[in-house]
Amino acid sequence: MFITLKNATKKYGEGESLVYALDNANIEIEKGEICVILGPSGSGKSTLLNMLGGLDHLDEGEIIVGDRNLSGYKNKMLTDYRKEDVGFVFQFYNLIPDLTVEENIEVVSDISENPLNIDEVLEAMGMEKYRYRFPKELSGGQQQRVAIARAIIKNPKILLCDELTGALDTKSSKTVLEFIEKINKLYKTTTVIITHNEAIAEMADRVIYIKDGKAHKNKMNLQKKAAAELLL
Ligand SMILES: Nc1ncnc2c1ncn2[C@@H]1O[C@H](COP(=O)(O)OP(=O)(O)OP(=O)(O)O)[C@@H](O)[C@H]1O
Ligand SMILES: [Mg+2]
Repeated sequence: MFITLKNATKKYGEGESLVYALDNANIEIEKGEICVILGPSGSGKSTLLNMLGGLDHLDEGEIIVGDRNLSGYKNKMLTDYRKEDVGFVFQFYNLIPDLTVEENIEVVSDISENPLNIDEVLEAMGMEKYRYRFPKELSGGQQQRVAIARAIIKNPKILLCDELTGALDTKSSKTVLEFIEKINKLYKTTTVIITHNEAIAEMADRVIYIKDGKAHKNKMNLQKKAAAELLL
């Protein structure tokens, strides 16, 4: 297995306000898969993604990603892990408004050890003709494609997407998901997508259901759909 969470537990607060955001969650994801994680609001999805991305520590249990066991990592090692291995895409694109599309991506490629070629990535995302535009001159879907390009330019081992279509209309959502699918095929990047939208699960290799901080169901999609065929 490429990604393994073993009895992953994360608590927030204490006393009356103690919450188990993750409660002995066990999850396995293979290399190169698209994995969609579904679950109600507050079930622990973002917590799970943040732990996978090395943004925070578990209280108990283990997370293994490739040859790294994150469980014993101190802050500096987690920072290196995030920098080298992890691409994040969030609901809101978080682009830097004063930088062009190209510059937003270069911010990351300039500090990466083995970045992909920016022309290739811009072309793969269908964004080469927008490279000198500023974020405010782009639609939401286009901005999200730049955010994906920025996440992928470092050639990360895992691409983590938290509600990446949450702010988009259905047409732009589908386009963005088609680009996620393309990136996954092109670079074989293991991709984890968190969503409320069950229809997106149809493009996944693996679907995991989270409830009350636990992984309840883990099923492989034997007949996955192309993103273009999703009924969002
Ligand atoms: N930094 C924090 N401090 C305190 N409680 C937190 C913190 N982060 C998350 N929680 C709590 O942990 C639980 C899981 O939260 P999480 O954000 O992982 O849920 P989610 O499944 O992503 O929900 P949503 O679908 O609404 O985004 C919730 O009860 C939440 O209130
Ligand atoms: Mg969330």
